[in-house]
Amino acid sequence: MYDIVIWGATGFSGRQAAIYMNNMYASNGTIKMAIAGRSKGKLEKVHAELGNPDVDILICAGADAEAAERVAKATKLVCSSVGPAAKYSNEMVDACIKNGTDYCDLSGEIHWLRKMYDTKAQEAVDAGVLVVNVCGLDSIPTEYGVKTLQEAAFSKYGEYCNEIKGCFADGHIDVAGGSFESGKGVMEAIANDAAMADMVSNPYSLNPKGQIEGNPPCPDLESVVYDNDFSQYIMPFPVGQINARVVRRAHALDNYPYGKDFIYSESKLAGNGLINKIKAQLETFFVDLFVSANPTKGVGKMLMSLGPKEGSGPSDEKMTKNGPYSFVFFGRTPSGKTLRAYCYSPLDAHRGTAALMCETAICVLKHRQQLKQQSGFWTPGTAIGEMLKERIAEHNVLEFGIGDLSDCADYVASM
Ligand SMILES: NC(=O)c1ccc[n+]([C@@H]2O[C@H](COP(=O)([O-])OP(=O)(O)OC[C@H]3O[C@@H](n4cnc5c(N)ncnc54)[C@H](OP(=O)(O)O)[C@@H]3O)[C@@H](O)[C@H]2O)c1
Repeated sequence: MYDIVIWGATGFSGRQAAIYMNNMYASNGTIKMAIAGRSKGKLEKVHAELGNPDVDILICAGADAEAAERVAKATKLVCSSVGPAAKYSNEMVDACIKNGTDYCDLSGEIHWLRKMYDTKAQEAVDAGVLVVNVCGLDSIPTEYGVKTLQEAAFSKYGEYCNEIKGCFADGHIDVAGGSFESGKGVMEAIANDAAMADMVSNPYSLNPKGQIEGNPPCPDLESVVYDNDFSQYIMPFPVGQINARVVRRAHALDNYPYGKDFIYSESKLAGNGLINKIKAQLETFFVDLFVSANPTKGVGKMLMSLGPKEGSGPSDEKMTKNGPYSFVFFGRTPSGKTLRAYCYSPLDAHRGTAALMCETAICVLKHRQQLKQQSGFWTPGTAIGEMLKERIAEHNVLEFGIGDLSDCADYVASM
């Protein structure tokens, strides 16, 4: 029996996850691990890179129910970076639920997550299986950033913030082919389905069933605007749309500790001055061209063909050059008091994502009885709680603090 199978280990994020999990936990015997995917040749290449004969290879193509069943039966936990999940992961989720196997993944595909919550959540609860999605840059920095800020606000002011704004602050994210493909999958799903489009664009589309409507308005930012609280321009951040929905879901799952009028929005810092404003407007324009196109016909289809291809992503050198990443958070309480928080990762966004998924999986595997939840579909924060935050800080994956980034010694040292 394996402890963890990294499914999708041949992909861009999966390879990073396999390397991290091996270096941190499999090579020293902490866990027994296998890597899985559809291509034996590609898996052997990753295996050679790991250099650990104790890691096994399992063949499992996406959407193959029998192969998924074999994998789920052979391990305690599946850690998946196969994507798009909407295309390939249904059978694996089914197999995990059927065989009592826990499951963590990177998926942030809103239409697929919605489908899973609506059709599989009760089955997972009944089977005692824990499923934790969005375990990467979306959405761990944001979910825990908000928690960090709220805990500090309550302890300092005796009240929670009823408004928090988060911003991706520093760092560079090259859009990898798998993320592009998954984003395209969401766009295809909504292109000719008005009800699905409405659902996905609803800021509360990931909330528990029956708690999607009737919440305070909180639209996604659509243009570059000046933000007085951050004293600079802010711009739309596509990943932020997923992150914000996860924060709202987590708040609802935790039974609205910050009040039913709590709103969270997420964007990206864009700097000051005319040049930065124009740069942000140009970037927003090009991103809009892609996200508003209909990928199933004409110009939209042509535009999609120009995007990065599945399996592609920045080289190891480029990831290192992309450098650390960070988020900043600004909160305001009902009585008008304000507070700031940050999170900083010394890792680049891609390696950081893989490390976050691996540490989430290790919390589920090694500390299952101490988790906040034992079964069903949860976000990392609502499933695991404080333990994950402590773990990722201890392993230099992501640290959180109160104040500005200039208060973070590691951030300052990295400049
Ligand atoms: N939450 C986050 O922060 C975050 C960050 C990054 C990525 N992601 C998501 O993670 C997913 C993977 O991203 P990525 O950049 O690693 O993508 P990728 O490089 O294209 O890798 C996709 C993986 O899925 C596998 N796959 C594709 N079709 C398959 C099939 N039919 N059967 C079995 N496996 C199949 C690929 O196998 P082959 O190698 O054999 O093609 C590969 O291992 C995407 O959905 C992306 O959106 C999330």
